[in-house]
Amino acid sequence: MFVFRPLLSRRTPVCHCNAWKIIEQRSYQTSCEALIYRRHGPYADVLKLEHIPVPYTGHDDIHIRMLAAPVNPADVNMLQGNYGILPNLPAVGGNEGVGEVIQVGHEVNSIKPGQWVVPIDCGFGTWRTEAVCKANEVIPVAKDISVISAATLSVNPCTAYRMLMDFVTLRPGDTVIQNGANSGVGQAVIQICASMGVNTINIIRDRSDLSETIKKLQSLGANYVITEDMLHNEEMANLFKVVERPKLALNCVGGSSAGNLFCHLKDGSTMVTYGGMSRKPTPLPAKALIFKNIRLCGFWMTQWKRNNLHDPTKLMTMVSELTEMIRKGQLSEPSCTKVPFCDFSKALQATMDPHTNKHVLIMN
Ligand SMILES: NC(=O)c1ccc[n+]([C@@H]2O[C@H](COP(=O)([O-])OP(=O)(O)OC[C@H]3O[C@@H](n4cnc5c(N)ncnc54)[C@H](OP(=O)(O)O)[C@@H]3O)[C@@H](O)[C@H]2O)c1
Repeated sequence: MFVFRPLLSRRTPVCHCNAWKIIEQRSYQTSCEALIYRRHGPYADVLKLEHIPVPYTGHDDIHIRMLAAPVNPADVNMLQGNYGILPNLPAVGGNEGVGEVIQVGHEVNSIKPGQWVVPIDCGFGTWRTEAVCKANEVIPVAKDISVISAATLSVNPCTAYRMLMDFVTLRPGDTVIQNGANSGVGQAVIQICASMGVNTINIIRDRSDLSETIKKLQSLGANYVITEDMLHNEEMANLFKVVERPKLALNCVGGSSAGNLFCHLKDGSTMVTYGGMSRKPTPLPAKALIFKNIRLCGFWMTQWKRNNLHDPTKLMTMVSELTEMIRKGQLSEPSCTKVPFCDFSKALQATMDPHTNKHVLIMN
């Protein structure tokens, strides 16, 4: 008999899989490697590679071998204790990734051995080599896309998709403006917009490899790529002689970058904030707020998924539409630095480095 200790904060449904502490009190079949943190702080101080037990596969459980898991900014924020939800500790790091099912419990009909699956909710603890979880904590993903695409599908492309579908009605010829445009989300925004015939104005930070970055984003379908400094430029007025002013702005930077986006929006438009990479508050010009009637919203993919936990159909539809875009070559896999599990420190450090243009993937 064990006492069930919820792993995540009270606002958070418990993730059975991340509750690895509990299984120390149960019989287990084997052990696996996992990146564990027992307190919050900088990753170098708190994240450790440990062996943890893998419990027997219960009647409604599945046993997964993890294939790859990205290091996203939210994972680092979670380690630091600086995120919208936090696990009770100790916890396994990582929220996103793809695993192959190696065994299913006798009551599981929805998932079969050999299938690839991705976690539905935040807090799964994907930085591990194996996991046993409830079958309803994951959804299947297609195996005819690359491991990288599958491992990075359920956060960034889904966030981009929802922000483009749920806030304004976008039609061919409309314009979206975004900062952090070279981020994982930003690259997905560019590609989804391109497939819809929607123009994108993409703001990036100045960098030594500027022309290379611009070319890369253009190859994904970006119409205009400009630096933060160019946003103040008078040439911006000329740009709006050839392209519609944006009806949607996507902001993952905050600070003056967000204020500058705001000034270029058309009347009645919407700005969605989904990240705060600069960690600075956003000054918003009252004139634009009042006279242009601009709507400010926030978006959090985790909350959207939680709002739809009772019925994953909407999530599965989105994932299958994005998968179809991958198959058609409309949504390419992100450029990734692949780091073996044992080199996790390198993976975390690479995520902190500025101007890398690359996502980091921990491969098993
Ligand atoms: N709300 C949600 O549901 C949701 C979902 C997914 C992601 N996000 C957020 O979206 C953002 C992007 O995530 P991602 O995984 O796509 O990121 P990513 O691929 O790791 O890229 C990070 C981006 O942030 C920029 N950046 C880093 N530090 C910055 C700073 N101090 N000032 C300005 N820009 C900075 C980088 O620019 P450089 O290349 O110039 O360094 C790059 O464009 C993050 O804030 C993440 O938390 C939110």
